[in-house]
Amino acid sequence: MADAQLPPLGYGVATSSYQIEGALDVDGRGRSIWDELCARTGAIADGSDGAIACESYARFDEDLALLEDLGVSAYRFSIAWPRVQPGGDGRVETRGLDYYDRVVDGLLGAGIRPFPTLYHWDLPQALEEAGGWPVRDTALRFAEYAAVVAERLGDRVTHWATMNEPWCSAFLGYAAGVHAPGRREGEAAYAAAHHLLLGHALGAAVIRDAWPAAQVGIVLNMAPVRPEPDADPLAVDMVDAVQNRLWLDALADGSYPPLLTGSSPALTEHGVVREGDLAAVVGSADWVGVNYYTPFRVGPVMTGEVAVGQDAAAYPYTPAFSFHPRPPRTDMGWEVDASGLEAILLTVARRLPGVPLRVTENGAAFPDREVQADGSVSDPERIGYLRDHLAAVERARAAGAPVHDYLAWSLLDNFEWAEGYTKTFGLATLDPRTRARTPKQSFHWYAERARAARES
Ligand code: FCB
Repeated sequence: MADAQLPPLGYGVATSSYQIEGALDVDGRGRSIWDELCARTGAIADGSDGAIACESYARFDEDLALLEDLGVSAYRFSIAWPRVQPGGDGRVETRGLDYYDRVVDGLLGAGIRPFPTLYHWDLPQALEEAGGWPVRDTALRFAEYAAVVAERLGDRVTHWATMNEPWCSAFLGYAAGVHAPGRREGEAAYAAAHHLLLGHALGAAVIRDAWPAAQVGIVLNMAPVRPEPDADPLAVDMVDAVQNRLWLDALADGSYPPLLTGSSPALTEHGVVREGDLAAVVGSADWVGVNYYTPFRVGPVMTGEVAVGQDAAAYPYTPAFSFHPRPPRTDMGWEVDASGLEAILLTVARRLPGVPLRVTENGAAFPDREVQADGSVSDPERIGYLRDHLAAVERARAAGAPVHDYLAWSLLDNFEWAEGYTKTFGLATLDPRTRARTPKQSFHWYAERARAARES
């Protein structure tokens, strides 16, 4: 598996539209499923929403200045579908596209490679009302949207990501109901998973048709699944199948894990998976992004700690189990274990030989937004987390995983979905009143690493 040609690791950071932009009613943006979920009482931990967030729609220049100070070679951001197609259909809002045009030009002017993600969870509400991801038409609409964006930006963008973490969209959105659109229908989640993969494949194809040099990838959140003593082996196997193999098997072999086709009628009946769909998915990723935060430790049902977002309802047809994250844990309740990143990168590299990989998100939430009198923000745990995970990436590279870039989550403290503003992942914090950005110590540490990498 060794790749002698692997260039030095590129350093970058990542964000997403709904989490940072604010300006939800500006320049003709349509409503998204996250606007709707946030309006539901009790859906978001602090009752907040993305209305203001980091105000990045108005303050991209400030973000760009931070990126330049950080000295990163790549910036992963996402494009808000409802800014580009407010109703999710044919009508295009050019003011929305103009914004991303400026973002791309700003980045290129600063020598930073733009890494747009087309779908980071903000589905136009109109498409949810027409059935959302469980409905095939949404995948077709996604391909049209991808074509519109590619036409506008494809002369300058070479690296695209279609979907961000389709597992979250499908299983947190439609089975556990903790993410938008907040539905709890296990079967719908499987149909959504298939349509997200299909949308990826169709979208990738239209981008490549328009721009043959484009490199179109998909971003998956995968993690090694580790059994606790007394875990039900079937539960362990199901969690691994839903979290990891569903996506990898489809991309590598054009099939779904027998364990899942044996349990979900959506994958075998109802005409969801049609002739030719999986043939379009196999080999459809020019590169794969891995988002990694924590290993998944599966054990028997117990009262006690279950990590945030790791809701057992997100694994339909799985025998009763619960997650047992071991200490040390981050503010999300997620177990810290860098060896899991090395392990999952090697798994993906073996499953998809020759496919370039990127760590498209990795980072940690700690409660560290306090700005000291001298203007500094101390976040030693985040530095330790990043250092250990970067070492894990280097080990995976040395063992032959072709990892090209590492993008830390996140540039700024931002809207952390169902957790609202209660969890902070940023290398920089924000003044809650003025939105002024203040780099944390981890920012300076990361800048130093990025500089050393560039000079190596
Ligand atoms: C990932 C999401 C990202 C961010 C991190 C903490 O699941 O892709 O937007 O919220 O988790």
